[in-house]
Amino acid sequence: MPDIRRAAPGQGIVHIVGAGPGDPDLLTLRALRVLRQADVVIHDRLIGPEILDFARPDAERIYVGKAKANHSRPQGEINALMASRAAQGQRVVRLKGGDPFVFGRGGEEMQYLLSRGIAVEIVPGITAATGCAAFAGIPLTHRDHATAVTFISGHAKEGEPDLDWAALAAGRQTIVVYMGVSTAGDIARRLIGNGMTPSTPVAVVENGTLPTQKTVTGTLLRLEYLIEDNGIAGPALIIIGDVVRAAAANCATAWPLAAAE
Ligand SMILES: C[S@@+](CC[C@H](N)C(=O)[O-])C[C@H]1O[C@@H](n2cnc3c(N)ncnc32)[C@H](O)[C@@H]1O
Repeated sequence: MPDIRRAAPGQGIVHIVGAGPGDPDLLTLRALRVLRQADVVIHDRLIGPEILDFARPDAERIYVGKAKANHSRPQGEINALMASRAAQGQRVVRLKGGDPFVFGRGGEEMQYLLSRGIAVEIVPGITAATGCAAFAGIPLTHRDHATAVTFISGHAKEGEPDLDWAALAAGRQTIVVYMGVSTAGDIARRLIGNGMTPSTPVAVVENGTLPTQKTVTGTLLRLEYLIEDNGIAGPALIIIGDVVRAAAANCATAWPLAAAE
């Protein structure tokens, strides 16, 4: 396997970068640095213009976003694009929402590039779960309410996710569901069917960390209607568990900082 971080002088590299959940202030310094040096930025759907503006004005920007059932470019093409640009000696930033290794296909892209001898760096990002929880004031593992937190996807590669619902329904844990808006009703039914209390509190955070963030709370039993009645269309994250009771009010916006900071 080639070195995961270092590229030889003159050789290209792909930085697979997590851009966080939306608020540009949540980019890491490392993400900012590599973005400023990039020759080409290959980015996903949930990357806002303020984040792309950190790239050099002359850097090429290529949109390859995917929405569910609306793939603008097949994954194979995205892989080939990254590899060919790096092979030409370019510094490529592959910019992804959240963290590249959390439901982000960063692993698949890394394996593809490394298997072709391309230098790769992974730059972690704030994943939607931690970003949304922070901006909604929900402490994911508050000791009075949870001893574990589990991230699940509401969609599997093919159809319904094959999860251990009994294990998920048991114990004092927080469940965070990515990509679960359209399957929320099924998820709630599975959890309740496996013993989770129907009155378990839930929160749905749409556009988390952005000025348009919407946070709604209710019970597991009514999760489907909570989403429907509030017109939640996504991107949204579902947080299930007693920690939702410990949510602080008025956390929905970042505290303004003075310009000099
Ligand atoms: C393909 S996954 C990518 C996850 C990403 N790699 C991460 O670490 O956050 C996309 C899903 O993440 C969640 N998501 C991403 N950004 C979000 C945001 N700003 N607010 C709420 N949910 C978000 C939604 O569930 C969305 O359907």
